Amino acid sequence: MKVDVVIGLQWGDEGKGKIVDVLTPKYKVVARFQGGPNAGHTLEFDGKKFVLHTVPSGIFRKNSVNIIGNGVVVDPVILMDEIKKINAAGVPTGGKILLSKKAHLILPTHRALDAAQEAAKGGAKIGSTLKGIGPAYTDKVSRSGLRAGDVLRPDFLQKYDDLKQKHLALLRQLGYPLGAEEQEKETEWLQSVEQLRTEFTIIDSEYEVNELLKQGNILAEGAQGSMLDVDFGSYPFVTSSSTVCAGACTGLGVAPSKIGEVIGIFKAYCTRVGSGPFPTELSDEVGEKLRRQGSEFGSTTGRARRCGWLDLVALRYSIMVSGATQLFMMKADVMDNFDTIKVGVAYKINGAATDRYPYEVDAPIEPVYKEFRGWKKPTSGCRTEKDLPQELLDYVQFIEQQTGVPVKFISVGPDRSETVLR
Ligand code: GDP
Ligand code: IMO
Ligand code: MG
Repeated sequence: MKVDVVIGLQWGDEGKGKIVDVLTPKYKVVARFQGGPNAGHTLEFDGKKFVLHTVPSGIFRKNSVNIIGNGVVVDPVILMDEIKKINAAGVPTGGKILLSKKAHLILPTHRALDAAQEAAKGGAKIGSTLKGIGPAYTDKVSRSGLRAGDVLRPDFLQKYDDLKQKHLALLRQLGYPLGAEEQEKETEWLQSVEQLRTEFTIIDSEYEVNELLKQGNILAEGAQGSMLDVDFGSYPFVTSSSTVCAGACTGLGVAPSKIGEVIGIFKAYCTRVGSGPFPTELSDEVGEKLRRQGSEFGSTTGRARRCGWLDLVALRYSIMVSGATQLFMMKADVMDNFDTIKVGVAYKINGAATDRYPYEVDAPIEPVYKEFRGWKKPTSGCRTEKDLPQELLDYVQFIEQQTGVPVKFISVGPDRSETVLR
């Protein structure tokens, strides 16, 4: 049996949550392998909408097993709050969510450090979601982090206090004093940790995943997108984890030979939240129209997303790094009302054409565009390929030809049902 992997191929928010929810009936097990509550994965069905940050997007399917893998960083307060909301909507989670002992914990002081470090960067700030992601992964890599399994140990409070004191010293250095509300956050955090300890199933997830893999295929759910990957994204404007397919191996403890389909998700255009290069960005009324039609506001922070045309240089790069075997194109309906649609096929940098994504984040990139006629027809009601306008199919075929990977699925609306399988 295999682990099929869902990953974002752009700068995040491609629609991974919807896809995992749509695919889950084919899988008993869904496992998140990296990132943390910087993610916001939206699911819509039966007139309801949910945004998940830590809980895998299989949770709404009956009898599913949802694993939070070792590669994830977990804020216990956000996790417990999320579970409360899911339960309040009448969906039981008991026994359906398993947490890896080796997942690292985000402390309240990680969040304070995130804010302090962003403030110290001034104009060069990353535009972090300020959920403590960078500082938590920093502690993991520098071998001083706290892990979910530690909450089961009798010396947990001592370990917590040691790490907190280290953070407080750093915060003092950064001139970022903690106020009274930070004390309240600590109380809330410790209460959530207690809930984790007493009500949660904390497991040796790498054993569990490999056992479950003997019984059936597993769906691995990525967060963020390949262009935010800590190695391959537009560093330093990236997140702090491996968002590419390889992250599923290290974030779950599965061997590369166990990877099956690599499902790459991309929007029919591009968006990015936060700072960093975005070659095909539209800072005009066309970008504004994409933002409006696509409701492009962050699921986690509510920030307006930057919008632009599809960038095939970046897409081909992401596909190469992860070896995507199939592509799912999202939000086609958002482009229902455009006379002309452009696609970036190459870059010009200092007058020289290239089809490679450059190392320099400040490279003066001028995209080379190919133009397509818009379809100017509503697509949200389409359910089969023959319902789709020919101009949209021409656009899809061009993407397939440029990437060499089949587009198996076209999404035409946020709801679970608004999908066209090819
Ligand atoms: P994720 O982080 O990759 O899971 O994506 P987000 O949930 O952050 O952002 C995707 C947004 O687009 C959400 O609001 C989804 O409900 C919405 N969405 C997903 N697919 C489609 C689609 O095909 N059409 C439209 N109009 N919205 C979509
Ligand atoms: P999902 O899973 C879009 C961006 C932030 C910032 C950078 C670093 O919903 O696709 P961090 O909080 O990790 O320190 O932020 O990465 N970012 C995302 N953008 N979707 C996400 O997740 C993101 N998670 C982080 O905006 O630019
Ligand atoms: Mg999102």
